[in-house]
Amino acid sequence: MFPKGFYRDENGELNVQGIKVSVLTEKYGTPLFIYDTGLMKERYEVFLNTVKNVKGNIHYAVKANDSVNIIKFFGKLGAGADIVSIGEFHKCIAAGITPDKIIFSGVGKDKYEIETALKHNILQFNIESEEELNDIYIIASKLRLTANICLRINPDIAPDTHKKISTGEKETKFGIDTEKITSVYKKLHELDYINPVGLGVHIGSQIFDFRFFEKAYLNLKSIADSLKINGYKVPTLDLGGGIGIHYDSNKKPDFVAYKKIISDIFLKSDYQLSFEPGRCLIAEAGVLITKVIRNKKNKDKNFIIIDAAMNNLIRPTLYDAYHKIETVKNKKGQAILVDIVGPICETGDFIALNRELVKVLSDDLLAIRTTGAYASVMRSNYNSRVDALEILIFNGKSYKIKQIDTIQDTILKEKILDFNS
Ligand SMILES: Cc1ncc(COP(=O)(O)O)c(C=O)c1O
Repeated sequence: MFPKGFYRDENGELNVQGIKVSVLTEKYGTPLFIYDTGLMKERYEVFLNTVKNVKGNIHYAVKANDSVNIIKFFGKLGAGADIVSIGEFHKCIAAGITPDKIIFSGVGKDKYEIETALKHNILQFNIESEEELNDIYIIASKLRLTANICLRINPDIAPDTHKKISTGEKETKFGIDTEKITSVYKKLHELDYINPVGLGVHIGSQIFDFRFFEKAYLNLKSIADSLKINGYKVPTLDLGGGIGIHYDSNKKPDFVAYKKIISDIFLKSDYQLSFEPGRCLIAEAGVLITKVIRNKKNKDKNFIIIDAAMNNLIRPTLYDAYHKIETVKNKKGQAILVDIVGPICETGDFIALNRELVKVLSDDLLAIRTTGAYASVMRSNYNSRVDALEILIFNGKSYKIKQIDTIQDTILKEKILDFNS
């Protein structure tokens, strides 16, 4: 039995499921995303245990990593899905997740997306405005299909996270004002082809102070309780995702504390609960392996230029995010202060600034840790860079999980004009 996730062998070299990472890069090249199904399974089971006593359903938040194999793996373990686009819906179907386990979230579902989801009879729409309700009502009436509707509350809570991933504050585009929720929920009961199924909340991502969840869930429950007292049915509550993970250490998320909060609030109630975890299921199960192109010095500043860039991992420049970076093979020596940067022509193209790292040479391999979530999924082809390859480790074997377009492939997809007229 090997340790879960990425670990060092007796020679200090990074391994996964008994395979040396350097052997994988020899076979597949760099930059390379590697995902460990061992850790994914462990994390899923811990989460399941966390929500077991409140009988919660898990809907994996596909936005965290939308690789069909990753969705499929969680689906096989029993997860449903939380999606934010019809593209993610099709990926879930390809992954074998049935529509009756899919929650459609998101602030901007367009008419085509609503129609498609309705025709496939998805579990529920989590809706974010009265305007969206009207659109769904018109489409559902025309198709004579019933839409299960859950209202997402904006509780005006500012959790301890980066502004760009805080979604429960009044100024954000998300959810329906708490003051309006009751009247909109009552309206659901008056409309044909609309079936009210409950209320939901998601206040953001990468949250560590669980008192924010507690506040949001208590608020959600009190609105739901008072609607029920007034005779309205509220069968389900959707508690969203957002559990923070530790990018700078091996500490696990505090699932025990989370379990206590949800048990204290919901154990004695009869709501069917759903959860939408993303990051805490997949982030730590991923690593991005990159090769050093060269060192460079500008005045007193040391740079390490690597073959991964912001098009592979945008989190550092987008969210000021920290990712641990280490050599794949054990390297001894004095640590120096460096900026670890990609080849893209942007000052914003960095993976780490002012980081202490042992001196490395051209062709050395570096591991950028905790890149399973919100990493490859945000990739681009900026600077005509091709995608990084992605592999999955399952039962001690590596599998390539996507085909990469070469630059020639991408040129062939462009329509080239002759400009002769
Ligand atoms: C509606 C919704 N649910 C779930 C998630 C997943 O959050 P996390 O990956 O932090 O668990 C997100 C991401 O922000 C989201 O927008």
